[in-house]
Amino acid sequence: MDPFTHASRFSWQELFCREQKGAMCRFIIFGASGDLAKRKLFPALFSLYKEDLLHKDTLISCCARHSFSTETFRNYLSETLFHSPLSELEKSFLQKISYMVLDYANIEDFSLLAKHLLTEKEKNLPFIFYFALPSPIYPSTVENLYKTGLLCEEQGKRRIIFEKPFGFDLASAIALNTFLKKFLIEKQIYRIDHYLGKETVQNIFLLRFANRIFEPLWNRKYVEEIQISALETLGVEKRASYFDRAGILRDMFQNHLLEMLALATMEMPEIFTPDAVRNEKYKLLSSIRKIAFSDAVRAQYENYTKEENIPENSRTETFAALRLFIDNKRWKNVPIYLRAGKKLGIQKTQINIIFKEIDHSIFPGIDKKDLQRNILHLYIQPREGLGLTLEAKKQGPKLCMGALTLSYDYPFSGNKKSGILDAYARLLLDCLNEDQTLFIRSDIIERSWLLYQTLLDHWEADKFTPIPQYKQGSRGPVEADILLRKNGSFWYDY
Ligand code: BG6
Repeated sequence: MDPFTHASRFSWQELFCREQKGAMCRFIIFGASGDLAKRKLFPALFSLYKEDLLHKDTLISCCARHSFSTETFRNYLSETLFHSPLSELEKSFLQKISYMVLDYANIEDFSLLAKHLLTEKEKNLPFIFYFALPSPIYPSTVENLYKTGLLCEEQGKRRIIFEKPFGFDLASAIALNTFLKKFLIEKQIYRIDHYLGKETVQNIFLLRFANRIFEPLWNRKYVEEIQISALETLGVEKRASYFDRAGILRDMFQNHLLEMLALATMEMPEIFTPDAVRNEKYKLLSSIRKIAFSDAVRAQYENYTKEENIPENSRTETFAALRLFIDNKRWKNVPIYLRAGKKLGIQKTQINIIFKEIDHSIFPGIDKKDLQRNILHLYIQPREGLGLTLEAKKQGPKLCMGALTLSYDYPFSGNKKSGILDAYARLLLDCLNEDQTLFIRSDIIERSWLLYQTLLDHWEADKFTPIPQYKQGSRGPVEADILLRKNGSFWYDY
């Protein structure tokens, strides 16, 4: 039975349960022959198309250095996205796509692009540029768009979606923001973090702010600690050179983990609008205490340095765990643990809100410490849903009790069911409809780099302390467990 049977008891709920179709635009993808476009962007665009959420006249212009013609690029997409024979829908989607070879440093190529896009018929359309590019080439690409009139809003609205990583450190993120401000206003800039498009990450807003029962408990008086884990079984795969420069702190903590933390701990915005939400996120990030080096663990999986394209002497971390504190009234001294790693034994992203033990046990012979703590589990992926662990009576003798987890799993994950958009499709649709709630504002990106910068510098400067190793397929390094023992705790791996 669908547990949401009451969802349609009011007509306004029906209204909110319908996706708003994307406004008409011209979509331009830079980096169209790359891995991200293949794995995420085209499937997302196709799912919008399939769900009739792309305006029927939306066209997709693809650009990259790779030499394809429109026809060969369509063939490549048809092989990578679909199975033959193609359905009529798949064929008509491919017809929307054109391809142009483009060198991002060459202004002539942008002039050709401008000629292609700024036709009498189309120049007044909104343009959305998707930068699936390495961030060092963002500035020259923006400048070339500007110089060839492609950012001029006198004709139609112009937006740019920037993939992560946005910058490589605090200084480069500030420099990039400052540079972009010369050409664009914040409303045109969509810094994407696909975690914000995940169904269960968005659910944090609803769970916290559309229910009565959580908010009164959501503070230092009742919460013992918060744990956020993003554990992956995959290694660096084909992204070795990027990953080895970045490391897990830049790759997962600066963005995904911090965004989840912000949603889970920020104050209630006065209203659910992009700026009200992002103002609260910014305030929250500003209240995070400087990370103590002793509260940070890094490690590398065994044989990482034997992976293709990884230098033999690499000290890049593939795992990290941190203890953070938020210095505000709500969270003062509540430890918040973050952990992420590659090549672990389990694939799981989850937030656990762990409540304090009860004040006093009335049950003879049972100490309050022996009772299960209440835990609210937010299952982000691959499981998507939520759970609440309670101490409860088992059937049978009077004081027979045990831990009981009430849980709900969304029946369909990602875009496996028509009508449910995956994270990228969600965010593309939001951008089409000019909703920036789930995109990162410039002050937030800078604040998040600021939080990690000292630690990044510290790790980089340290050329000798051995980096702990962990076995592939394991739970990660023992140092991550020791970090929690400081507070007499452990990772709640359920
Ligand atoms: C990306 C990181 O942003 O997120 C990857 O660069 C990571 O290293 C990926 O694997 C995880 O995303 P997801 O949606 O698979 O959890």
